[in-house]
Amino acid sequence: MDTNDIFLREITLRSCSSLDIKESLRSTFTYLKDQIALSSLTLFIIDERLGAIRRIAQAVGDGGVLPDEIIPLPEGMLEKIAARNFSRPFIVDAEDEIFRRLAPFTRLEGLSDLIVPLRIEERLLGGLALRAEGKGRYSEKQAEFLGCIAKPFAIALANALAHEEVLHYQSVLLDDKRFLNRELLGDADEIIGANTGLRNVMEMVRQVAPLNNTVLLLGETGTGKEMIANTIHFSSQRKDGPFVKVNCGALPESLIDSELFGHERGAFTGAIAENRGRFERADKGTIFLDEIGELPPAAQVRLLRVLQHHEVEKIGGKRPIPVNVRVIAATHRNLQSMITEGSFREDLWYRLSGFPIIVPPVRQRKEDIPALTRHFLAEKSRELGMAAPPSIAPGALLRLVEYDWPGNVRELENVVERELIRYRGGALTFDAVQPDNDSSNRSQSSVEGQLSYPLNLDEAMAVHIKEVLVLTKGKIHGSGGAAELLGVNPTTLRSRLDKLGISYRRRELK
Ligand SMILES: Nc1ncnc2c1ncn2[C@@H]1O[C@H](COP(=O)(O)OP(=O)(O)OP(=O)(O)O)[C@@H](O)[C@H]1O
Ligand SMILES: [Mg+2]
Repeated sequence: MDTNDIFLREITLRSCSSLDIKESLRSTFTYLKDQIALSSLTLFIIDERLGAIRRIAQAVGDGGVLPDEIIPLPEGMLEKIAARNFSRPFIVDAEDEIFRRLAPFTRLEGLSDLIVPLRIEERLLGGLALRAEGKGRYSEKQAEFLGCIAKPFAIALANALAHEEVLHYQSVLLDDKRFLNRELLGDADEIIGANTGLRNVMEMVRQVAPLNNTVLLLGETGTGKEMIANTIHFSSQRKDGPFVKVNCGALPESLIDSELFGHERGAFTGAIAENRGRFERADKGTIFLDEIGELPPAAQVRLLRVLQHHEVEKIGGKRPIPVNVRVIAATHRNLQSMITEGSFREDLWYRLSGFPIIVPPVRQRKEDIPALTRHFLAEKSRELGMAAPPSIAPGALLRLVEYDWPGNVRELENVVERELIRYRGGALTFDAVQPDNDSSNRSQSSVEGQLSYPLNLDEAMAVHIKEVLVLTKGKIHGSGGAAELLGVNPTTLRSRLDKLGISYRRRELK
């Protein structure tokens, strides 16, 4: 190899040595300064959008690299540069019109500057500027010779710009995603009953959220399992990663494998393109497998493998793909009896049930009903465009508290919405809600057990008030208290209690 070949080879290797163009420039500078007079090496682009020259990087004497800098171009300068059609390396003439007008930004006297224009497919991207202290340090011969480094540098520069663009879009997308997540969740972070009926659940959520383990959410339909799954993801370290939800009951059995685990192109008829499964999409985030009890047996086997080995096997794929995914599963079904029946795999159950959280039904946390009702009243009336939520008729809340809510929070949400849609002025009575007469729950909460009829008015009132006090666990004051449920002032209620000889928690008085 002659010296020219060695030179070209070194320059090519160094200009492409790193994805970070600053690093490549530093490496080129270190080599080039032993070959030619050189105190700094600058890579710049002509940024038409900004109407400026952008210094991408500059390597200086001690091998350090100065960061980005933007040098605005005077009016009409872009056109002048384009007209000049720079293509070969040239020694800068300080008297040249273009460079004279750049003088306020860069010193030219007492220095030698040699510029290698960088072009790709005829387009002028920018240039590489060599600078040395003192006048006349570069010769025309050197300028001509340096023509050979233009191509490798132009390619390195184009790659660096493309890479920069990708990084830019990546950060834009991440930002969009955070924004959308916030929008989507909106007020979802408001969990009613977090300190009352759901206190134990929230305590478990706090414990488990920061960890990486699988969580199984159990509870009747409409109890808030999905909401709890959201809370776990968004209070975990994975919160900026994807949160992928799959309703295992809603996917047709023939598609479930390819939806969850993905498939390669041509894996089956109709598989025109490669498809990333939901697990792959959830990489570095959380996957929420809702209605896990509906998962068909074949998919159960595949899921088990993912949980064991942390990798997915695509349908028609040649090798497994590692995934870093946290699994939250939920079901309203009784998985244990499904295991007995043989419709749910026991080994999968063991994998899933390391940290079960049981979300209790509404009838076991009646104290939350008033707050839930008010929450949905505010939310739904806003959605329906009402100026303010209507008031609740005396006694109506009690009707809601006494009802058993087989559809749980979702049923309550629907009841409130229907009541608002039917609303024609006045106070809301919720008289569409009728407590079940034969509800075993109701007779349990009956204080007197055996009643002898007919009761006089005071007796009937006493029985009724006592029932309400059982429901509110003795609470009189404030949200969910007996006074609110009965639609009377707390002071009035207390004097009524005294009169009827009903004992109540004295500390309530404070
Ligand atoms: N404690 C709560 N505070 C506020 N809103 C709640 C609460 N619990 C549930 N909700 C709301 O009730 C509705 C039903 O909750 P969610 O969808 O989480 O229930 P689920 O247990 O997943 O039900 P299913 O088993 O039917 O899928 C949702 O609109 C949710 O936002
Ligand atoms: Mg759900």
